[in-house]
This record gives sequence, structure tokens and C-alpha cells, in this order.
Amino acid sequence: MRRLVAISAVLAAAVVLVACTGDVAPGAQPSPDRPVEVVTWWAAGSEKRGLDALVGVFDEQHPEHSFEGGAVAGGAGTAAKRQLKTRLLAGDPPDTFQAHAGAELTDYITAGQLEDVSALYDDFGLRRAFPTDLIRLLQVDGKIYSVPAGIHRSNMVWANPGVLAAAGVDPNATYGSIAAWFPALDAVRASGRTALAVGTTWTQVNLLETVLMADLGAERYEGLWTGTTDWSGREVTAALADFQTLMSYAPADRDDLDWPDTTQQVIDGAAGFTVMGDWAVAAFEEHGEVPGVDFSYFPVPGTVGIFGFLADSFTLPMGAKNRAGAAAWLDTVGSVEGQTAFNRAKGSIPARSDADPADFSSYQQSSIRAFGRDRIVPSLTHGAATSNAVLEAITAATATFTAGGSDLATYQAALADAATP
Ligand code: BGC
Repeated sequence: MRRLVAISAVLAAAVVLVACTGDVAPGAQPSPDRPVEVVTWWAAGSEKRGLDALVGVFDEQHPEHSFEGGAVAGGAGTAAKRQLKTRLLAGDPPDTFQAHAGAELTDYITAGQLEDVSALYDDFGLRRAFPTDLIRLLQVDGKIYSVPAGIHRSNMVWANPGVLAAAGVDPNATYGSIAAWFPALDAVRASGRTALAVGTTWTQVNLLETVLMADLGAERYEGLWTGTTDWSGREVTAALADFQTLMSYAPADRDDLDWPDTTQQVIDGAAGFTVMGDWAVAAFEEHGEVPGVDFSYFPVPGTVGIFGFLADSFTLPMGAKNRAGAAAWLDTVGSVEGQTAFNRAKGSIPARSDADPADFSSYQQSSIRAFGRDRIVPSLTHGAATSNAVLEAITAATATFTAGGSDLATYQAALADAATP
């Protein structure tokens, strides 16, 4: 119950921002001979394996339709979301696209670009499959605009125990706060390896959100998005100073690295630690790495008991050319077979309550437990906490700061501006 109350807080701000979109126009007529164009940013590696697993189930469940992939490479959907915006504005939507449940989705709803899929929830029995409170929280003015495929956690550290041991760091150690982690990072750096594998700007924003969670705590972190925490306050200044220190452990060529590259640095032993959402576990597992032996993980120091929540979900855009095919895709996305196959490969956990935890890896089983127990807070970087516009402004301010183009006070002022558009 507590977890669902918390998700409520996560999505509530999004809900109040949404204007009534009026009655939903019917979509285009079914086009069974046309493939179903599905836009995602799962273009390679473990992300593509997750998508492929979902497509495999779709092919079995809906042989009357064929899948057409429209994956646009770029972690966290940075490129895909830009391209999608152009297509939606031009009235040329794909049949369905990947989006994050929460505030990000409200951008599209407010613009009248998504159909209400409530009737499909009835057709597919999804109201019984997802926890009642999750259904309630997905509702906007009584309507539902997406089908969640799975739930990820944003605030995890991934480590290479061999690199840590060689640096004289206890591979089993965890740390009570960001500051308590610095000596271990210093030791890894002194051993000649990258201490913290951070990549291009969105991965820096992912790091930033976890530092804000750690230093502010769950409630004041949430207050950043509901307006009750002052972005100009001293506690945010202290968190930004910790973020700045963490960035000093990052590799110099970070702007060329996306999450598969930084994760690979840890896998290869070129780096000791990385902070990344738990899609990273799928990359370790894809390389046959054994948890506790070849890699280890723990919540970002200071965030034990906090679950940085995000949910990949699929939509039904207004004017989809193959509406029937898109509805069939949503059927597979919401099905227990689809959720099991997809999440097993992807590192996420199913949104359905009837999936069997025994079908998932030991990391995922721990994530299922954490999701049931922890305080759920919305991810900034992955669409749960704010609109795309606010995220873009925070990202731009972060890029300037980490490139040395602004000092900490200027950065903090830019974040305060960005978060209160
Ligand atoms: C998505 C994940 C994806 C990650 C990295 C997140 O925004 O929700 O599915 O693996 O970005 O690309």
C-alpha cells in the first residue's frame, strides 16, 4: 500500500498539469496488411534483446500482424524523443511508441496526441492484471493513455569487485552517504583505473538525480517536483557540490560515452564503479557475468530504501495508420507472456502482479522486493518527475556546468529556473 501511495505522489503532479483533451477521435481504420510501426530507442545490445523477446511473443500471439521496428539509437531516448516530436507535430505518428509513464506522457496527452486506451484495458483484462492503485494512478481525468511494459530503478551502483580489491577497497563494502563513498573512489583512481564511469550528458543527469535523492532524502527530493523544496536552498547547494566531486572521478572522454560504454568499462575492469539504471544488469548478464563474483551492485550511497521509479510504456497515437496492429501490440505488451519475456531480457520487473518472480534473475528478484518495500520516488531523467521541457532545460544547464561553462552558483540558479518554467 505504502508503495502505491508513493507512486501516487510520483504521478499526481503530472495529473494536475493535464488539461482535459475532450472526446477522443476514432483512430484510422484497421490496416491488417500493413506492418505495425513500433518506435523505441532499444536499438542494440541488451535493449534490443528485450525488444526482440517482446516481438517474439507478439509474433506468436498475433500472427495476423507483422512488426516493423523503428528504433532510434541513443540512451534514455534522447534522440528518439526529438524525432518523435517532429513526427507528431507533422501529423505523421508511428502506430505506437515507447514513452515513460508519468509527467513525460502528459506532454503528449496535453497536446492531444494520444488516444485513451481504457477500452483496451477492458478488452485485455488489464484492470485485473495490474495492481488496482497502479491503474488508478495511470488514469488522467478518468482515462488511461499507455500500457506499461516494465518498471526500472534509476539509483543503482554497479561495480567490478576485482578492480576494487586491486585498489585495496573492500568489494563487499557499502557506504552510508555520498561523502562516505569518496575514499573508495579516491583509492580506485589512485590505482590507475577510472573510479566512476560517467558518460554523456543524460548519464550525468541520471547521476545528479541520485545525488539529490541521497542528500535530500525521499521527501525533499519529491518536493523538488511538487514545489515544496526550494531549488535555491543550502541543501541543494550541498548536493550539487557532491555531484561536482563525483564528476571529478569521471573519464575525460565522457561526452562520447553512452550507457553501454560506461557499463562495458566496469565489465572490462577499466573502471571500478558506475551509477546507472538497472537496465545495466542486463548488459552484465548478457556477457555471462555472475553477480557477487564478476560484478556487484548496491543502491547509490544514501539511497537505501529509496526506489527511483520509471516505467517504460507503449501508447496509441491519434491517427495511427495501423490502429488495429497497434492495439494488438499493446495486447502483447500487457500480457503475462509479453511482460515475462521482455523483462527477463531487459533487467526491469513486470508491472503485472501475476508474473512469477521465479522467472527472473536474482537481481530482479531483489528489485521486486525493493519495489514492494521501498519509498518510490520519480526519476527525473526517465520521464516520471517532469515534462520533457523541464528535463531538457535541466540537461542543458548540467551540460554547461560539467563542461566548465558555469560555476556552482550559476548552475544552481539555472536549475531553479529550469524547474519552475
Ligand atoms: C528507458 C530504458 C532504457 C534506458 C537507457 C530509459 O529511459 O526507460 O528502457 O534502457 O533509458 O536507454
